[in-house]
Amino acid sequence: MDPFKELESFEEYLKIKSLYWNTEKNSFVWLDTRLLPFEEVYRETTDYRRVAKAIKDLEIRGAPAIGVSAAYGLALAALHSNARTVEDLLRDLEEADKTLRSTRPTAFNLFWALDRVMGVARKAAERGDPDRVRSEVLLEAARIHVEDVKSNIEIGRHGSKLIDNGDVILTHCNTGALATSGFGTALGVIRYAWYEGKKIKVITTETRPVLQGARLNVWELKKEGIPFTLITDGMPGIVFRNGMADMAIVGADRIILTGHTANKIGTYMVALAAHDNDKPFYVAAPTSTIQETLNPDDIVIEIRDPDEVRTVLGKCRLTLPDVEVYNPSFDVTPPRYITGIITEKGIAYQPYTKTLPALLKA
Ligand code: MRU
Repeated sequence: MDPFKELESFEEYLKIKSLYWNTEKNSFVWLDTRLLPFEEVYRETTDYRRVAKAIKDLEIRGAPAIGVSAAYGLALAALHSNARTVEDLLRDLEEADKTLRSTRPTAFNLFWALDRVMGVARKAAERGDPDRVRSEVLLEAARIHVEDVKSNIEIGRHGSKLIDNGDVILTHCNTGALATSGFGTALGVIRYAWYEGKKIKVITTETRPVLQGARLNVWELKKEGIPFTLITDGMPGIVFRNGMADMAIVGADRIILTGHTANKIGTYMVALAAHDNDKPFYVAAPTSTIQETLNPDDIVIEIRDPDEVRTVLGKCRLTLPDVEVYNPSFDVTPPRYITGIITEKGIAYQPYTKTLPALLKA
């Protein structure tokens, strides 16, 4: 089925259009998440370098959204290249791949999506027709897009079974429509449970330093009408201690076969707080986030600009301009604190070294 047509069949789940391909202009469009919740501004480009910049600067963020956007970035590179031979076109695509690959080092979906599209491009190139490569690249990007939407819905369906009427769910960072193709992973589970009519409540951290919780979760949850409370990143301990949350559900930038999960900085402390208070801690992510390695040292942690910590969103200074800062964007939660990993193929429980490979094969 034509993936663009297939995408239309999921409209009821895609109330928030975070990103899409404009088939008339062969351009890529995205909602600039840096400006939310105050302004809703869509950006549009035919230049893959602009997509790379948008990913680097967090206009587009969240591992699945990064992967889908990078795939469309390659489609832009293919469709707007002047190459007349497959050799020249592949050279242009490799240049674009290199640029897109260098944007964010932790989000595994980025490398997964680029590898997939480049694989298709190289295979199509064997036929010697550059226009064939162009159409195959766009088609593969659109397939990745529609698969992400479907995965999100399936993650929601599986994850919602873990949620009871009346539950209060703590989440960290934004994993909703704005972090994916339009539904969400951890926030997708919450959204699905809400659509099923469960009377749930959310507690979201603000998610320092760039406030994905305070800006993006607040915007999404308000749009859905899901009741929520905003807390600072230091508060999950007291929230669990006081029995104010029944579980935590977070997303992932990268999961390895041991179950070690890299996610937004502060996730590890949420897991510790849940564990110490006998509350379940779930990770929700598509299998495209899983790196097939057993070595936690293979997880690259992105270190970002110190000014993210010294200021509020580059505007208000919080401290002296020259203070030394450590700003890792992600931390790694060890598998012993993870109750289950919710994917589109089902929920994996410990021991992850057995259940995750089985899930990938399923
Ligand atoms: O730096 P960000 O905003 O890209 O970090 C996002 C996260 O940590 C998310 O939890 C993760 O990518 C999963 S998004 C569905």
